[in-house]
Amino acid sequence: MSLLAAAGLWGPPGLLLTFALHPALCLRPAPTSGPPHRDYCVLGAGPAGLQMAYFLQRAGRDYAVFERAPRPGSFFTRYPRHRKLISINKRHTGKANAEFNLRHDWNSLLSHDPRLLFRHYSSAYFPDAGDMVRYLDDFADRLGLHVLYNTTIAHVTLNKDRQAWNGHYFILTDQMGHAHRCSVLLVATGLSVPNQVDFPGSEYTEGYESVSVDPKDFEGQNVLILGRGNSAFETAENILGVTNFIHMLSRSRVRLSWATHYVGDLRAINNGLLDTYQLKSLDGLLESDLTDLAIVKDREGKFRVTLKFFLEEGNQSADAITLPQDDNDNFAMRVAYDRVIRCLGWNFDFSIFDKSLRLSSGGEFSKKYPLVKASYESKGSRGLFVLGTASHSVDYRKSAGGFIHGFRYTARAIHRLLEHRHHGVAWPSTEHPVSQLTSSIIRRINEASGLYQMFGVLADVVLLKEAGGEVPPCRLGPASAHSHPPHRGRFLDGLDRPGGAHLTSEALPGELFGHRSAKLLCSNPYTQWGARTHNPEIKRPSLHQPGQPATPTPAIFH
Ligand SMILES: *[C@@H]1O[C@H](CO)[C@@H](O)[C@H](O)[C@H]1NC(C)=O
Ligand SMILES: *[C@@H]1O[C@H](CO)[C@@H](O)[C@H](O)[C@H]1NC(C)=O
Repeated sequence: MSLLAAAGLWGPPGLLLTFALHPALCLRPAPTSGPPHRDYCVLGAGPAGLQMAYFLQRAGRDYAVFERAPRPGSFFTRYPRHRKLISINKRHTGKANAEFNLRHDWNSLLSHDPRLLFRHYSSAYFPDAGDMVRYLDDFADRLGLHVLYNTTIAHVTLNKDRQAWNGHYFILTDQMGHAHRCSVLLVATGLSVPNQVDFPGSEYTEGYESVSVDPKDFEGQNVLILGRGNSAFETAENILGVTNFIHMLSRSRVRLSWATHYVGDLRAINNGLLDTYQLKSLDGLLESDLTDLAIVKDREGKFRVTLKFFLEEGNQSADAITLPQDDNDNFAMRVAYDRVIRCLGWNFDFSIFDKSLRLSSGGEFSKKYPLVKASYESKGSRGLFVLGTASHSVDYRKSAGGFIHGFRYTARAIHRLLEHRHHGVAWPSTEHPVSQLTSSIIRRINEASGLYQMFGVLADVVLLKEAGGEVPPCRLGPASAHSHPPHRGRFLDGLDRPGGAHLTSEALPGELFGHRSAKLLCSNPYTQWGARTHNPEIKRPSLHQPGQPATPTPAIFH
């Protein structure tokens, strides 16, 4: 479908705006002066930005996506460097259920258009990154998403205004110096700054982002790779057969995704070096804190590894540097390396955000991510949400929120939260007779894709009505982070992986978001019970059957 056809489907954006406005908002005069205004601004036309654009478009909202590149998905035009995605593209499951099939399709974005499934873009189980670029391009075009290409947002700041939805507008300035004013800012810029560890000699390292991908350039070389993630192993895999040997150095032990169940750990497809190491070939894995490291260049221009400690004692000439081990051993790392390659992952680019936004980095283990609440809203500024890879601090090393097959659902949850907050649209739910309670839940367990991918993060909520009555008035309040939820109500535990049974989750529709832990409190004292919750994908069957005795308490299911 072309842009034109899509425009026919959605109508011109100006027209949509008129009926999209929430009555409460109509009372507020639209700002008449100042920079052009939009309700929703999305930064970045990668998978997360386009996913959010899709939901905004479907809901008829006033939005724009700002993208610095001329086309969507520019990250995938260059990365992964060796072009093979490690997200699976399972085209056959033996089932026709589209929801179920998404469990095994890690590349598609959510849309109503079955032509926009990744299966139509590649037949490879591990697809080529170029197919992702083509897919995202089609996704933006066919759905007629409003993306402003070639628009680099150079600076983002806050402008306090009592009229604004959140008490302030976000002012975005592009490379031409034009300002754009936004009520809500959705940041989907991913992680784009190569992570560098500073140590003496770190300037001698080449980065994953620029090192040659031609194996010929590594013929007969001794190579040291810093890092132990998929990019490190992907780099090693490519040159394994032509080097003398590869040593890989990282702070801690390699974690294998087949052991940890975490998709960001080393995947079997990249672990060729482990094979040659375990089978006693020359390649090796070493553990050391990179910040203690020093690399010195010797007279032949080769690189030698030592510890910063020794460097500080010596006089910086490579031949005089003590190595960490006893002289009599033949410590493997005493060899000189021809190249040192840094494959240390990526950080969020904080540089464009003004201090007034108070967008800070997360804690020790999530330094590379901006600090957000469980609702993905920035802790520093109301109305600023982080989507996509950069939102992974919420479920880092726990679930799939850093990857397309996870964040397509968390983007949807953020959109539903915004629909409720700013437009009074209730969270989608279905009603079932109580006699179908078990089968409805089992059906969700067997088929729901969002719960499956985002186990431990998204949840369904089931509310029971009193017989013939209404759902009892309940509200959600913050709960102490240490309060233990009762055991009952944890029906969906089956979706949790063993060992990953942390109770996260938060929220019911409304102002329930924003607390990492929340409690469901209902007015009837004996129905009062709590549960820690966290970003649920709300399904709300209100269950009642006339003539039955009063049904039991409302329940949250994770
Ligand atoms: C973006 O810039 C490229 C050249 O850098 C140009 O070919 C393309 O037409 C531009 N696209 C838009 C939408 O302005
Ligand atoms: C520095 O190292 C060189 C050997 O490369 C040695 O000849 C010289 O004595 C050392 N100087 C000091 C001050 O240790």
